[in-house]
Amino acid sequence: MSDLALPSLSAASLVLDVALLPSLIEPESLTGRTVVVVDVLRATTTIVHSLHNGAQKVLPQASIDSARKAHAAQPVDALLGGERGGRIVDGFHNGNSPIEYTPELISNKTLVLATTNGTVAMEQCRAAQRILIGAMVNLGAVARVVEDNPLITVVCSGTDGVITSEDVIFAGALMERIIENRQAAGKPTGQLTDTASIAVDHWKNVKQNMKSGTPLAEFFRNARGGINLVKIGHDDDIVFASRIDSLPVVPELDIESWSIRLTGN
Ligand code: MLT
Repeated sequence: MSDLALPSLSAASLVLDVALLPSLIEPESLTGRTVVVVDVLRATTTIVHSLHNGAQKVLPQASIDSARKAHAAQPVDALLGGERGGRIVDGFHNGNSPIEYTPELISNKTLVLATTNGTVAMEQCRAAQRILIGAMVNLGAVARVVEDNPLITVVCSGTDGVITSEDVIFAGALMERIIENRQAAGKPTGQLTDTASIAVDHWKNVKQNMKSGTPLAEFFRNARGGINLVKIGHDDDIVFASRIDSLPVVPELDIESWSIRLTGN
């Protein structure tokens, strides 16, 4: 990866913004924007992997109750997945581990998913023009889909209402990819908001340490979302979630039907 020259604040053909937590968003401010929702550990990584492995659609739900109701209205082979405290919910078929959603399990099925942070964050974004689902595993693919949109906001899900490093790492890495792609194509690189600059600085710092041999997963283990996962025995999910660009697909949340499918562009 090349060194990133930050765009000047005066070039405003493109605005790159980051909401460090869903609660920091004024929902109406997302009107007309392209939003990328991220919950690296683990909701958005799980959604990307499920759709990559052939899921027909994912229905994100903000509560356990609404998930049970949505699942009851689906075909009998639909799966009910999600977590509380990182663990599978009583009566649910599956948890929120990306690696459990294998092609054998998920192919051609609907997944109704309720998680503590990621699927709740999506609710804050209803006013957006488009909602895409990002994670480190599909970083480059998301960058390609959004890079020509004039107003892009990454919404970090956080963990239990607190900013968490792994989502900010994704936000910074995505900003960097968008700027690199646009520079390579000779397009103006636009303007970073203050929070976007903070995210880029955080990512640059992590990237520097990665060059010296520290794996990305190690940063995730020490982040708020990762500490709990290590404690409950899900280190394998952390390693999976740290594989940058391993899944070249982009899920999009259709705002009207509130369902997530793979986007064609
Ligand atoms: C969430 O959306 O709350 C997280 O993905 C929690 C988890 O790691 O399962």
